[in-house]
Amino acid sequence: MRTVFWENNELKMIDQRILPGRFEVLSYRDHKAVAHAITDMVVRGAPAIGAAAAFGLALAGYESASSSTRDLLADLQSAAATLKAARPTAVNLAWAVDRVLGAANSSKEVGSADELRQLILGEAQRIADEDVEINKRMAEHGAALIDDGDTIIHHCNTGALATVDWGTALGVIRTAHEQGKKIHVLVDETRPRLQGARLTAWELEQYGIPYEIISDNTAGYFLKAGKVQKCFVGSDRTAANGDVANKIGTYMLALAAFDNGVPFYPVVPTSTIDLSLAHGDLIPIEERNPQEVLGLEFEGQRVAPQNAKARNIAFDVTPARLVTGIVTENGVAYPPFEVSLKKLVK
Ligand code: MRU
Repeated sequence: MRTVFWENNELKMIDQRILPGRFEVLSYRDHKAVAHAITDMVVRGAPAIGAAAAFGLALAGYESASSSTRDLLADLQSAAATLKAARPTAVNLAWAVDRVLGAANSSKEVGSADELRQLILGEAQRIADEDVEINKRMAEHGAALIDDGDTIIHHCNTGALATVDWGTALGVIRTAHEQGKKIHVLVDETRPRLQGARLTAWELEQYGIPYEIISDNTAGYFLKAGKVQKCFVGSDRTAANGDVANKIGTYMLALAAFDNGVPFYPVVPTSTIDLSLAHGDLIPIEERNPQEVLGLEFEGQRVAPQNAKARNIAFDVTPARLVTGIVTENGVAYPPFEVSLKKLVK
C-alpha cells in the first residue's frame, strides 16, 4: 500500500502521527487541509510531502469554481503558495508544486478548465509513480555499497512511509536484505518525534530485517567500538556543494562516523538536490513548536519542569566534508560534489 494515493476523487494518506499504535488512512478533499496535514506531520518525509502537495494542488483545481483556464490558473497560484508554506526545509515540496504548476501553465493542448483539472491530476499522479520507480533505482545503487554482515546506523524514518513507497535510505537497506545480505540495523530513535523508534522500527519489523533501537546519543558509542560498518540517512535538501540537510541529529552522527572512519551515505533523489543553493547555510531550517520537546513523559510524568522553555530545531546541515558519497537514482556522487552532483542531476 502507498503512503499517499488518489482514490475516488480524494487524496488518501496514512496517518503517521499515530503509528505504530494505530493504523488509519485519512481522506482529503481540500488543499488547505492537505497543507495542514503536512505541517502537522500526518504525512512527513521529503518525497511523501512533495507527492501530497502535488495531489493537494489537484484538489485545489476541483475546489475552484472557475470555468475559464485563466481564472483556474489564478486559483491554483494561491493554492500553491498555501501548500509551499506548509514546511520550509524539504525542497521536494516546492519542487513538486512548481512542477505541477509548470505543466498547467505550459500545456498547449488544454481547451477547457476541466481538461486543465485532468492534466494537473495526471501530473501529480506521475510524480507519485515516478517516486516509487526512482526509489527502487536508488536502492539498487545504494545496496551495492552494503556488504554481507554489515551493521548499519539509520537516522529518522526514510522508508516507504517517508516516500510514496519503498523509501530512500531504508529502501537501500530493504533491497540489500532482499538480495540476501545479512544486515543488522541500529535505529536511532530520533527525538523529539521518534520517527526512528515508531516508524522505522515498525517498517523493519514488517520486512523481517533484524534491528535494535538505540537512543540518539548511543550512536557514538557503537561507532567508536568498531561495531558499525556504514551509516545511511535521507535528506530534505542537499545543496550544490554536497552539504546535506536532514533530520536533527544527523550532523552529530556524521561527525562521529567521520571520526571513526565509518562511511556516511545520504540517499537523495535528485528532486531533493537544490543546485540553486551554493552551500548548506542557505537552506531554510524549520523550527517547530517547543511543545514537541516539552511534552515528553517518563513513567507517566512530564519530564520538564512546568515553566521550562525549549528549542525544537527540526533539521541540521551535515557539511559535505563528512559525507562519503551521495546515492541518487542516477548513481553515486563522490567528492568533489560541486562537479558530481551537477552531472547526476542532469
Ligand atoms: O520531519 P520529517 O519526519 O519530515 O523528516 C524526515 C527526514 O528528515 C528524512 O530523513 C527525509 O525526509 C528524507 S527521507 C525520505
